[in-house]
Amino acid sequence: MMFKDELTYRELNNRYRNIINASLGEAMMRPDMPETLAQAMKYSLLAGGKRIRPCLTIGVCDIMGGNRKMAIKLACGIEMIHTYSLIHDDLPCMDDDDLRRGQPTNHKVFGEGQAVLAGDGLLTYAFQYMLEAGLSFNNSGYYRAIAEIAKRAGVCGMVAGQSMDLIGETKGIKDESELKYIHQHKTADMLIASILAGAFCGSTTEVQLKCLEAYGGKIGMLFQITDDILDASGDPKLLGKSVHKDDEHNKLTYVTMYGIEKAKKLAESVAAEADRLLFNTFGENCKYLYDTVRYIINRSC
Ligand code: IPE
Ligand code: IPE
Ligand code: MG
Ligand code: MG
Ligand code: MG
Repeated sequence: MMFKDELTYRELNNRYRNIINASLGEAMMRPDMPETLAQAMKYSLLAGGKRIRPCLTIGVCDIMGGNRKMAIKLACGIEMIHTYSLIHDDLPCMDDDDLRRGQPTNHKVFGEGQAVLAGDGLLTYAFQYMLEAGLSFNNSGYYRAIAEIAKRAGVCGMVAGQSMDLIGETKGIKDESELKYIHQHKTADMLIASILAGAFCGSTTEVQLKCLEAYGGKIGMLFQITDDILDASGDPKLLGKSVHKDDEHNKLTYVTMYGIEKAKKLAESVAAEADRLLFNTFGENCKYLYDTVRYIINRSC
């Protein structure tokens, strides 16, 4: 039963998204950035996107009764890093995509050189933005969050996954454990970072942190399985990006490995594992996280 003043997942997410979009807009109002570079960065950053990672940061912070102001800064930094990863992922030397977030990809509009720099700009600005705010918070949890984000975005995290993903296209992937490694790093790490960043804004226990980390691993896996299913069978109009790219690139995914039906079953079982993890540590007191599992598994964009 829902209490009168309890928001639905969609309403809550819309509120989070509005906060994030407004803060990202403000973050980009810097007269000291060269015009073309700023335009290219804003073009991708402010183009929409589901904002699932920054929403998780604020959502987890709220569950833990943490400091919202810190969570919003971290959430924006995370979305800048995620957007840079998309700009670079779409380059001709990587996935060579023409459409992202419902509009032509960054390099199609600004050229490859400026697109590389827009990505570089978003990545470094993310840390500048988070660290400058840290001076006023002066809170050790906040710095722990930034270290976690750096680790999971970088050479042991998302960048590592992207590198192995590219190598897999030419050399092939040996077995399911290699595929898991790629998903864990290219996708799950940034989701885990988003969740833990929110947790570090409150007084979360080590046991709760462990649970949230494991939960992030599960929804990361789930997110990439649904991404691969949507690549094979989704609607590009809803997705805002092209489909059948994985096939074109001979990419091994759960869909190409097992077929869509089995990939869907696998997604269901990963979702159930995520629910079980949450229940063991938080019981029913994290509705937003259960709802996120359902949102990911049912998503069409
Ligand atoms: C796409 O991420 C890249 C993957 C990790 C699969 P999203 O599906 O979250 O993209 P946006 O942010 O909504 O555009
Ligand atoms: C990319 O995975 C994950 C990133 C770190 C950007 P994909 O290459 O499958 O993402 P899409 O399908 O282009 O969004
Ligand atoms: Mg890719
Ligand atoms: Mg791609
Ligand atoms: Mg994909």
